[in-house]
Amino acid sequence: AGTLGAQAAQSGRYFGTAVASGRLGDDTYTAILDREFNAVTPENEMKWDTTEPSRGSFNFGPADRIVSHATAHGQRVRGHTLVWHSQLPGWVGSLTDANTLRSVMRHHITTEMTHFKGRIYAWDVVNEAFADGGSGQHRSSVFQNLLGDGFIEDAFRTARSADPSAKLCYNDYSIENWSDAKTQGVYRMVRDFKARGVPIDCVGFQSHFGTGGPPASFQTTLSNFAALGVDIQITELDIAQAPSTAYANTVRACMNVARCTGITVWGIRDSDSWRSGENPLLFDAAGNKKPAYQAVLSALGGT
Ligand code: G3I
Repeated sequence: AGTLGAQAAQSGRYFGTAVASGRLGDDTYTAILDREFNAVTPENEMKWDTTEPSRGSFNFGPADRIVSHATAHGQRVRGHTLVWHSQLPGWVGSLTDANTLRSVMRHHITTEMTHFKGRIYAWDVVNEAFADGGSGQHRSSVFQNLLGDGFIEDAFRTARSADPSAKLCYNDYSIENWSDAKTQGVYRMVRDFKARGVPIDCVGFQSHFGTGGPPASFQTTLSNFAALGVDIQITELDIAQAPSTAYANTVRACMNVARCTGITVWGIRDSDSWRSGENPLLFDAAGNKKPAYQAVLSALGGT
């Protein structure tokens, strides 16, 4: 097939991109979006600071524009993200009472998931809850500090009740190298959730890489997680300077793991990227395909 999405679909996978609602009026942008991609992730529009800027007051307008566009073009939607310490409005961060925060968190998850019910392929229920470095423990956040370790489980149970048709993912960065303490911490959590019947369906590997691309153990990491009984997705891929080999190695790792169900790049053109200074994407600022594009297309075909 001649496009990323169509080629990925030949093995039952999707190929997606992050989308910014403010760019949907840019014809070059939407032409590439609708030609190449069969999945989208709203880059910022489903985050708490946008969707519930003050308590109980919800705003789904920007995300609705993306979901409507995706629906009209046959693209799956990954929901990103329900519980995250960043892009969190000040009113949540200032709460000091555990029972209040617990009910606020459950209400936020339930209201947002209910709004989009039946239209989301997978939700990043909890994003980036683990600390960097060698601890293998959760990071400090208002959720962790007031609710304790159980906040992640509570979020997943709430999410399952809100929309039983959506896959529920844990999503994080720097969990691609198997021997890292952070990877091991997330692995132990998923193993524990599966053992105790806490609802979790997938793990998202953000995959924001430097020029070298994925660590040598990346495929091992993906298959070890998959062996726990969850799907795997590459959720925010970008690679500094976009070397063809680094992109091909990343895609091959997914292709070689049966439960790796899809890949999302974190933007379309280099000029759309949060790392635009590093030119990390598959299209240049003018919308032309870069060499890495062809490498990805070939790797999706298994070559
Ligand atoms: O919309 C406001 C605008 O009104 C304001 O004038 C302007 C001034 O700073 O800011 C605009 O918001 C920015 C927003 O992107 C939309 O462009 C924020 O400042 C900026 O911080 C925000 O950055 C996003 C970042 O998450 C925030 O943490 C990036 O676009 C987005 O790509 C990035 O995505 C994250 C994933 O969600 C999670 N994993 C890491 C990844 C990269 O940081």
